[in-house]
Amino acid sequence: MKIGSINLENRYILAPMLNVTTAPYRRFCRKLQKIGLVYIPMLYTKKIEKNPKSVEIDLLKIEEETPIGVQLIGSDPKALKRSIDYLNSYKFEILDLNAGCPSKRAIKAQEGGFLMKDLEKLSILIKTAVKYSSRPVSLKIRTGFEKPVKIEKLAQLINDSGISLLTIHARTVLSKFYGDTLDLDIVKGLKERLKIPVVGNGDIINPVSAKHFIEYTNVDAFMIGRESMGNPEIFNQIHEYLVNNKKVSFINNRNMMEKKLEIYENTIDEFLNGITHPLGNQEIKFIELKRNAIWLSKNIDNSTKIRYQLSKSKTLIQLKETLSNFFSP
Ligand SMILES: Cc1cc2nc3c(=O)[nH]c(=O)nc-3n(C[C@H](O)[C@H](O)[C@H](O)COP(=O)(O)O)c2cc1C
Repeated sequence: MKIGSINLENRYILAPMLNVTTAPYRRFCRKLQKIGLVYIPMLYTKKIEKNPKSVEIDLLKIEEETPIGVQLIGSDPKALKRSIDYLNSYKFEILDLNAGCPSKRAIKAQEGGFLMKDLEKLSILIKTAVKYSSRPVSLKIRTGFEKPVKIEKLAQLINDSGISLLTIHARTVLSKFYGDTLDLDIVKGLKERLKIPVVGNGDIINPVSAKHFIEYTNVDAFMIGRESMGNPEIFNQIHEYLVNNKKVSFINNRNMMEKKLEIYENTIDEFLNGITHPLGNQEIKFIELKRNAIWLSKNIDNSTKIRYQLSKSKTLIQLKETLSNFFSP
């Protein structure tokens, strides 16, 4: 798949998720399988305006993660331009604009998902991004704010905007992440009308749901967020099914979890090598390992207790002790 002049190796995209798809996590997922594109979780243009140094931490070593997109969220075109200028010194491939975040904070600040009810503002922001970004611009939207927007209107706005890629999370902003609110018809309708590649997103949790999403909507690629937590090889499982017609279901056990955590720890070490992380390298290692150890115990029999114990650990030593008791009881 091509985005502007950038060729993606495949049509699998890891979703941006705040405090989840950190650099070690993105690298870890990529180590386990081929992923066409990853995104950095949203960076607030307001924050960059106030103190650009505050986002340095999110951009550490991104030049090593090719191809990668950097996502901005904001409502003021001037702040957006200044953020784009600030990012110029970094090496990354795609600039993404967030028009889907449903958080109270985003709606109050008239950014993210709020833009789905102010298409005029959205259009101005997209035009600003396209004008000032030296890289292709992508946009991440929802189907609407309270109810789906008129497809024709949205399609025209996007076709006239100069963006290179659209990602659509197939539910309205007010539906947040609620179970049965997925609306694939809007995605299908938009895809039919757009000249640029479209990425489908929302509730892809296994090879069957991926196949259904793609076949129903005809999207060019898909993005996965939550299912990757605890099942970081989800793209591989889907690939085997779509391309090789092989059913690889997600199974997990202590042995697999131990192996993945070993890979994860090495990935963290590689990432931290040669840098001094502002939060402290040991602390980062602890936070990352703890969070992922909890997720990676997903589907393991009788793992409630270990998750509880892991969540209570306060230091890296404690965490590792708990894990080693679990793996070699
Ligand atoms: C914890 C969390 C953090 C998220 N952070 C972002 C973000 O920074 N930017 C963004 O565009 N979407 C964010 N999202 C939304 C996801 O990118 C994705 O659109 C959503 O989870 C639906 O996909 P899924 O059903 O595969 O999880 C976040 C979602 C979660 C669960």
